[in-house]
Amino acid sequence: MTPERWEATNRYTRDLFGPDDDHLAGLAADAADAGLPEIAVSHDVGRLIRILTMMTPAKLAVEVGTLGGYSGTWIARGLAPDGRLITIEAEEKHANFARDHFDAAGFADQVEVRHGPGIEVLSKLADEVGEASVDVGFVDANKDDYPTYFQLMKPLIKPGGLFIADNVLGSGNRWIDDLSHPQIAATDEMTRAVVADPNFDAVVLSVREGVLVARRHT
Ligand SMILES: C[S@@+](CC[C@H](N)C(=O)[O-])C[C@H]1O[C@@H](n2cnc3c(N)ncnc32)[C@H](O)[C@@H]1O
Repeated sequence: MTPERWEATNRYTRDLFGPDDDHLAGLAADAADAGLPEIAVSHDVGRLIRILTMMTPAKLAVEVGTLGGYSGTWIARGLAPDGRLITIEAEEKHANFARDHFDAAGFADQVEVRHGPGIEVLSKLADEVGEASVDVGFVDANKDDYPTYFQLMKPLIKPGGLFIADNVLGSGNRWIDDLSHPQIAATDEMTRAVVADPNFDAVVLSVREGVLVARRHT
């Protein structure tokens, strides 16, 4: 793989599927206008998490790292008809933007945005939803807390459910070959914990910045 081939590969998949539909494109444009950072998952990661959510199939999904709701929209589109998504966001501005967006897009009954630090909100969620109740857990927030996010989500995931994490190979210009970087070291620590966990079957997909998909089998 050369940088040129990486570019061509990404161009190919983008061309293959065409631009985002009006809803997703409008969301991305509104988020940029509102000053939200342009760090949402790519369209192919969005497609992936929607398909995985559909396959589970998911009645309850939990996301850490809402931003403007781009990945949450892909997850919401994959939920079972009576399914719901709880998405957690630490920045009030991001949480409010996403909440308004989900409500305007008709997801008010299915998607709930919870404002607060992921660790705090996830810890409370455990009491509320109970163990083995979550079909899909998706993590795409601050990397330092990735190991804790897995530890907190692990008991919540149902047997047959999925734990998914973005950025397990890198983030921007920091990559997995530089473990001296604390955020890379944290994602590595989480990935190794998932791989070593006898209750999960895991794979790392080298889509964009790397997506970990792990299925809880017991
Ligand atoms: C990469 S963005 C999420 C992108 C989103 N998943 C998407 O694809 O549309 C990371 C988000 O995590 C949020 N975040 C950062 N630290 C957090 C924390 N401790 N708890 C929850 N969210 C956090 C950031 O404010 C940001 O909105």
